[in-house]
This record gives sequence, C-alpha cells and structure tokens, in this order.
Amino acid sequence: MTLPTDPPTDPPADLPTDPIDWFRNTAPYINAHRGTTVVVGLRHGATEHDNFINVVHDLALMHSLGVQLVVVHEHEPLDAAVMTSDAFASSIAHALDQRTQIERLFSMGLPNSPLHNARLRVVSGNFITARPVGVIDGVDQLGRGLVRHIDVAGIRHALEGSAICLVTSLGHSPAGELFTLDAIEVMRVLSRGLGADKLIVMSDFDGIEDADGQLFRQLTVDAARNALVTSAQQQQQVLTLACDVCDSGVPRSHLISFQEDGGLLRELYTHDGIGTLISPDEYEQLRAAEGRDLAGILELIRPLQQQGVLAERSNEDIERLLDHFVVITKDSRVVACAALIVNSADNIAEIASVATHPDYRDSGHGERLVERLVNMAKESKVRRAYVRTTQTGHWFQGLGFIAGSEAELPESERQKAKAARNSKTLIRAL
Ligand SMILES: CC(C)(COP(=O)(O)OP(=O)(O)OC[C@H]1O[C@@H](n2cnc3c(N)ncnc32)[C@H](O)[C@@H]1OP(=O)(O)O)[C@@H](O)C(=O)NCCC(=O)NCCS
Repeated sequence: MTLPTDPPTDPPADLPTDPIDWFRNTAPYINAHRGTTVVVGLRHGATEHDNFINVVHDLALMHSLGVQLVVVHEHEPLDAAVMTSDAFASSIAHALDQRTQIERLFSMGLPNSPLHNARLRVVSGNFITARPVGVIDGVDQLGRGLVRHIDVAGIRHALEGSAICLVTSLGHSPAGELFTLDAIEVMRVLSRGLGADKLIVMSDFDGIEDADGQLFRQLTVDAARNALVTSAQQQQQVLTLACDVCDSGVPRSHLISFQEDGGLLRELYTHDGIGTLISPDEYEQLRAAEGRDLAGILELIRPLQQQGVLAERSNEDIERLLDHFVVITKDSRVVACAALIVNSADNIAEIASVATHPDYRDSGHGERLVERLVNMAKESKVRRAYVRTTQTGHWFQGLGFIAGSEAELPESERQKAKAARNSKTLIRAL
C-alpha cells in the first residue's frame, strides 16, 4: 500500500507540467464543480486496494474544492443462494470494518499528504431505512434487505455542515432490525433522491469498452444501452446503473477505475477524463454564455491574443461582453466560443473572438458557432455581418463571407479597428 508519506509519482506525460499552466487549465473545472453534489460509489475491492489511500486523498481534495461528497462503499456481497446467519454476521462485520477503515483514513492529517491540516469531517449514520427481501425461491434471505427510504434531509444537513457523508450499505427497519443492502441499489436511490449532479462509480476496470476492447470516453444513455449488448458482464451492472440514474435526472454518470492513481481528479478536472462518461443528452452543448463560462472563455482566447491571432481585449472587456458570447461546452468546459456584437443603429453586426480549443478543431464547432451567430444577427434584423481576421480569411469565405474593406463599414464600426493588426475585413449579407 502507498503510504501517505511516499513521494508523489510523476504526473502522466499528457498532463501539463508547468504549475501555472496546470492551474489555469484546471480553474474552469474547479468553478464548474464547486457546490455540486457528487455521489461516489466504491465497488467491492476498492478499500482493500493499494491505491485506496490516493482515492481518499483525491476525495479530500475534491471536498476542499467545494464538491459536496456522498461516498457509498460496497462490502463483500452476500451469496443469495447460500444464506446463513454466519454469512450475514460476517458481511455486517466486513461493512463496519470498511466504514471504520475509511473514517480512519479520512482522519489522518500527516504532513506531506493532501490531508495535512484538512480537518475533514466525515458523517456516517442511520441514513437508510430498509425492509427484508423475504423468501426467494424457497430460501429465506434473512438479513438481506431492500432500501425503503433514504433520509435525504439528514444527508443534506451533513453536507451543508461541510461534512463528507459516508454511507455504508446497511439499513435499519423501524423495528430495529439490521439489513445488508445491495450497494448498487443504494447508489441508485441516493443519486436519485439527492438529485445529485453526478454519480461516479469506481470499479476494478477502466470504463466501458467496445467489442474491440477500446474504451468509450463518452456515451449518451441511448448509446450506453446499446453498448450493454457488447460490454463484459461485470460492466453491465454499473452501465445499467449509470443509465438509470441519468434517466432519473442525474446529468452525468462516470465509470472509472479505483486502481488508477489520480483517477478521480483526472476524470473531473482534465479535458478528456480517464473513464467513461454517460450523459442523457449529446455530450457537447451549444448555448449562450453564462457567468460560469467566463474563465473558460478567457482560457481559450488568451493564448490566441498573445499570438496576435485574435484582437487584444482585456479581461474586463470580455466580461462586459459576456452576454454577447455563445459557447460550445463539453462537460461544463468551454471548448469553443464566439461573440456577436449587434449595432442595430447602423444595421450591422460584428462577429468576434471565434475560437475552438486546439484539441477540438476540425469537428465543425467553428462553423456551428458562426452559423448560430449569423442566425442571431438575422433575428436582430441587421442586414450585414462582418468579421476582422488576420489568418482565417479563407475559412470565413467558406462560410459565405466576402472579402471587403473598412470603407464598406459604417463609421461607428470603423472606429473599432486596430490599425496595427492590419486585419482583413470580410462581410456577409444576411
Ligand atoms: C478558425 C477556427 C475557429 C476554426 O475552428 P474549427 O472548430 O476547427 O472549425 P470547423 O471544424 O468548422 O472548420 C474546420 C475546417 O476549416 C479549416 N480551417 C481551419 N483554419 C483555417 C484557416 N485559417 N484558413 C482556412 N481554413 C481553415 C480546417 O482545415 C478544416 O477544414 P476541413 O473541414 O476541410 O478539414 C479555429 O481554427 C481557431 O480557433 N483558430 C484560431 C482563432 C481564429 O483565427 N479565429 C478567427 C478570427 S475571429
């Protein structure tokens, strides 16, 4: 097992090594996930794995970044066919032992570990009311139970008190009996009941693979249900869970491995994540920019401004113009943006700051954005749209813009030109 005092391993080669770059790249994700409720399901085997201490550190870090965490752990499953009092007692003992172990790890505050001075509060308790499974195929299921009720208010209260909620897959009946529950069912009911923003299930596999063994990075619920047919049996249970919770309103489910050091952080705070993401809708969204997108827009256009590809605009200018931007987001991260500045008085609109993140180019994002802006300009009843560009004149020509000159623009727009850029002006009649 890796001890908390072990030196950190090198970051994977594809992560930025410059801490400033890393911090800037991560900031939009931190903003997007702050204040969200995330249910993390630890499949059987997670707590015994050597990497578990790193999982605890990652959870602690997510918590300190403002994510409201509900952690469900799965203990040794009971064999439904051979149900004995001894098996039940050992299952309960295993569950409680796991809970104690997790609480202990969250309580460590060793120097040189991410938990140093973190002062984490972990709350576990009688959050689940259960009922007996009863007799199935002639076998009395004894202490196997089903979830009857979740104390959502109690969990919310703990989360609002800045605690991490730890849920053991055990439940109590109103008569005081103890039941061991199916952890997958607990994850399902909790995610739904809490109206969680995410469910992350950590299993002993990387995610969902296609028939050739290639990992699906992202799937819509419909595609995920199709993938059920080809996916390995061990993946089917969590894939069904992921689809079910998405169907019941949870926007995202992530399936990742508990064996990967930093897996949680890579899944939530990097571009492409590490496992399989399942979402009800198309993964990418084109929409009007909102306040939470500002950091992502700045991150996207700042390097292009520094290279002289886009006209210089201060952060304050961009913030002021935020309502004019449309963005394409991928799991809350801005991957492309563009702005439309309508000048109704002079019957013209400027298209500006069109940018697609280098990792997402050549997939039609730029064209979709410009088409959206052109349609918005038409709705504003202006007769022309124009753009100034130094390097993408041909690209705009492909989108119906025609090379023009500043002289064709009204005086109010000419004043906005930056002479030193020597940019070309292209105009499209609407
Ligand atoms: C221009 C830009 C927004 C295009 O984004 P995108 O999401 O890749 O756009 P699309 O996928 O719709 O278009 C890609 C196509 O345009 C072509 N293209 C990209 N840049 C081009 C350029 N400067 N000149 C001509 N064609 C170009 C690509 O080769 C690709 O062609 P293909 O479809 O034949 O393979 C992106 O390259 C970018 O961010 N550039 C830097 C910022 C910039 O110059 N903005 C414009 C000034 S406001």
